[in-house]
Amino acid sequence: MEISVVSTRPFTDQKPGTSGLRKQVSSFRRPHYLENFVQSIFDSQPMLRGSELVLGGDGRFFNREAVQIILRMACANEIRKVTVGRGGILSTPAASHLIRTRGAAGGIVLSASHNPGGPGGDFGIKFNVANGGPAPESVTGAIHAASLEVDHYRIARSPHIDIDHVGRRQAGEMEVEVVDPVHDYADLMESLFDFPAMRDLLHSGSFTMRFDAMHAVTGPYAEEILEQRLGAPAGTVMRKEPLADFGGCHPDPNLTHARELGQLMYGRGAPDFGAASDGDGDRNMILGAGFFVSPSDSLAVLAANAHLIPAYRGGLKGVARSMPTSQAIDAVADALGIPCYETPTGWKFFGNLLDDGRITLCGEESFGTSSDHVREKDGLWAVLFWLNLIAVRNQPVATIVREHWQRYGRHYYTRHDYEEIESGRADALMSRLRATFPELPGRRFGSLRVRTADDFSYRDPVDDSVSTGQGLRILFEDGSRIVFRLSGTGTMGATLRVYVERHETRTDQLDEDNQAALAALIEIAGSVADIRNLTGKDAPDVIT
Ligand code: G1P
Ligand code: ZN
Repeated sequence: MEISVVSTRPFTDQKPGTSGLRKQVSSFRRPHYLENFVQSIFDSQPMLRGSELVLGGDGRFFNREAVQIILRMACANEIRKVTVGRGGILSTPAASHLIRTRGAAGGIVLSASHNPGGPGGDFGIKFNVANGGPAPESVTGAIHAASLEVDHYRIARSPHIDIDHVGRRQAGEMEVEVVDPVHDYADLMESLFDFPAMRDLLHSGSFTMRFDAMHAVTGPYAEEILEQRLGAPAGTVMRKEPLADFGGCHPDPNLTHARELGQLMYGRGAPDFGAASDGDGDRNMILGAGFFVSPSDSLAVLAANAHLIPAYRGGLKGVARSMPTSQAIDAVADALGIPCYETPTGWKFFGNLLDDGRITLCGEESFGTSSDHVREKDGLWAVLFWLNLIAVRNQPVATIVREHWQRYGRHYYTRHDYEEIESGRADALMSRLRATFPELPGRRFGSLRVRTADDFSYRDPVDDSVSTGQGLRILFEDGSRIVFRLSGTGTMGATLRVYVERHETRTDQLDEDNQAALAALIEIAGSVADIRNLTGKDAPDVIT
């Protein structure tokens, strides 16, 4: 096959963020933009030559074009084989699973996760390594360095490659295998959970559920698993056709963007269980009738009940959470006598702990939870875990969570996001706040006293790599915390995230309104960081 070597010039903005390179579609459609980044992956990861690569994405606008370009570039860069999901589709956890089971040297996942899609929306590209997980910082750093030097890229002049029919075909010397995107993943789920018990629950006549696929990638996965294999009635999966623009919606599973599901779950005759996932299928939101389970609580409840699930019957080796995630899971780890690791934000930091067998479960406050069955967070896995739990405990979601609070106390928790702040202002806010830290310890705010204030850094216990500047923390003597960090996934301006947490153990104080229970801390956060003044915003844009 004829190969073109195309001259190009570096783009200076191809530094991967919290989760890959994410930009507006218009950026990715600039001549050479995608090609430069893909060539930078191949240049910085020479072990890909002669090996297998997994490729797929969440089906958003530009997915199909990008798949064709990457296939032609893979061929020109001497990749031996590319395994691609039919139609160019693979959810993030399904891609992770395929990389692992195929023994691939890596994978390329096309997604901007929960960001909106369509011509005016966002697109993204992530490189995953051989363990199936997001590339660690050393690898993303090498890709970024290569992107600053790239002066040509290689691409095969091949005709359109058929990705819509399952089977093997050749593109020059390279093999392309198109696989059903759902099948292997559904089998994996069936191997982890008690499908017969879940089937009985769904057929009991006294239990109903809804899953909102948000017109994103999980539609076909949820239909196969929930409606086909588990026999839930048709209609259980809402918004199940994947659309390139997600039907004009924001595929972010929270009560703002999954509004219809929220209304159902808080309405009369609500289903017993409600759940949603995001654009690429790695996030999850869990609801009971009239009840929202915070992601941090969800992680803690799963850990505390893992012994009831077939895959985790033998116990958990350890658990991990990202630093801003609430400490609810720490309390469970304490009770179980297992280690609990605190990592920086982003799934890539869990990879070493999982590979080294130090942890079994991990999660983030940002609606991400998973286990050692893959190396990504996994939305449907979390939903099935809950369904299995409900089937075994035979209790409503709200009761399971309230019993958890009775035992471990409740970690009231919220995140306030201030979006699209001018980057200079956001940086100024963070540096001014950091400058106040030396004076904060010992200072009193009402009944609260600051114990320490620091800029979080992490030493990976497996490879000793150090990541600094991972969020500003104010820790109070009673265990309350306020954390400030700037998002690494936004595509417009800067997003300030403020995370607030307080542990309540008085058993008659566990059912308060979340925001009200945190009001004093929210007030302190606003004043120490001078948020109103420095962002020009009176209130956060999103509260979760
Ligand atoms: C956000 C979340 C983070 C998650 C990431 C990718 O990153 O906060 O927990 O891992 O998306 O889904 P951020 O925008 O905060 O950098
Ligand atoms: Zn996602």
